Amino acid sequence: MKKARIIGTGSYLPEKVLTNFDLEKMVDTTNDWISARTGIEERRIAAESEMTSDLAVIAAQRAMDMAGVTADEIDLVIVGTITGDFPWPSTACLVQDKLGAKNAAAWDVSAACSGFVYALTSATQYLQAGSAKRALVIGAEILSRIIDWEDRNTCILFGDGAGAVILEAQDGDNGILSTHLHSDGSYWELLYQPGFGAKHPATVSGIEERLPFLHMAGNEVYKMAVRSLYDVAVEALEANNMTTDDVKLLFPHQANRRILDAVKKRLKLRDDQMYINVDMCGNTSGASIPIALDEANRKGLLNEGDILVFDAFGGGFTWGACLLRW
Ligand code: COA
Repeated sequence: MKKARIIGTGSYLPEKVLTNFDLEKMVDTTNDWISARTGIEERRIAAESEMTSDLAVIAAQRAMDMAGVTADEIDLVIVGTITGDFPWPSTACLVQDKLGAKNAAAWDVSAACSGFVYALTSATQYLQAGSAKRALVIGAEILSRIIDWEDRNTCILFGDGAGAVILEAQDGDNGILSTHLHSDGSYWELLYQPGFGAKHPATVSGIEERLPFLHMAGNEVYKMAVRSLYDVAVEALEANNMTTDDVKLLFPHQANRRILDAVKKRLKLRDDQMYINVDMCGNTSGASIPIALDEANRKGLLNEGDILVFDAFGGGFTWGACLLRW
C-alpha cells in the first residue's frame, strides 16, 4: 500500500499582533494573568479585508512552492475550519477556485481544533486507497470574528492563522503510518458557537444574547483536553509498537501552555520533544498544528526518517492523532 507523505508545508499569520498588554485595555485582565494561566503572550488578528480563504491560499501556495507542485496536480483540497468565509459553500471550494486547482474535489471538515488532524486523516485514506495522488490539506481559522471581545474568559485565548501541507502518495517507508480519530458529542455544549444555525436561526435578539460568539466552559474543557491528548498519543505509539523515546517531535494542538505542559509530563516527553508556539500565536484552532509544523520545518528541525506525532483535541468533542515518518 502507498503511504501519504508530506512533501511541502506552508503557513501564514496575519500581520496585526495583539499583545496581552493590548487586551488589558479591552477587558478586565492583566498580562500576568494571561501569561501565567495560558502561556500566551500575543496572537495575530486578521485584517478586515482578509477572509479565511485568503489566509488558506497563502499558506497553500507556500506549501505548493516547497513541494514543487502546481495547482492542476492537486486532486483533493480539504480544509479544516470552523470559521469559514460563509456557512456554505465550503471554504475549500473558494480555495480551489483561488488557486485554480481545476482537477480537485474540495470540501471542509468541521472538527473544531481537531480539524487539521481530521482533514489529514481523510486525505490519507484517499491516497492510500489509490483514489487520489496529491492532496492539499489546510487548517485555517479567523477565530477573532466569532470571539466575544467583551468576555475575558475566552477572548484572551484565540488567534488567527493558516497552515497547509501537500500530501503525495508514495512507495517506501516514509509518510503517515497511522491515524486515530475519536469523538464524544455528549460534550457539545462545553465548547461551541450557539448561533446562527438551524437551532438558533438569525434574529436581532440572538445577537443581543451573544449567540454568534464562541461559548466555553474552560475548566471542564481543560481536564478533557489533557486526558484526550494523552490517551490518543499513547494509542498512536502503541499501534506502531513505539514509545516516546522513538518520537523526534510531537506537535500538539496549541490550546494553552498549561495543557501542553501537563500532557508533556504525563507522556514523559523531554522539553525538546514537544513543539510549542502558543506563546506567539494563541489558540488558532484547526490551524495550530500545521502552523507549528511549518515553523519547525522551516527552522530545519525535521530530518528524513524522524518520527512525528500530531495530537489534537477540540470542540465536539473531537480528538485524534497521526503518527508519521518524515
Ligand atoms: N483575566 C483575569 N481574570 C480572569 C480572566 C482573565 N482573562 N478570565 C477569567 N478570570 C478569572 C475568573 O473570572 C475567575 O475569577 P473568580 O475566581 O473571581 O470567579 C478566576 O479568574 C479563575 O477562573 P478559572 O476559569 O477557574 O481559571 P482557570 O485557571 O481555569 O483558567 C482558562 C481559565 C480558560 C485559562 C483554563 O480553564 C483553560 O485553559 N481551559 C481550557 C481552554 C482551552 O484551551 N480551550 C480550547 C480547547 S481546544
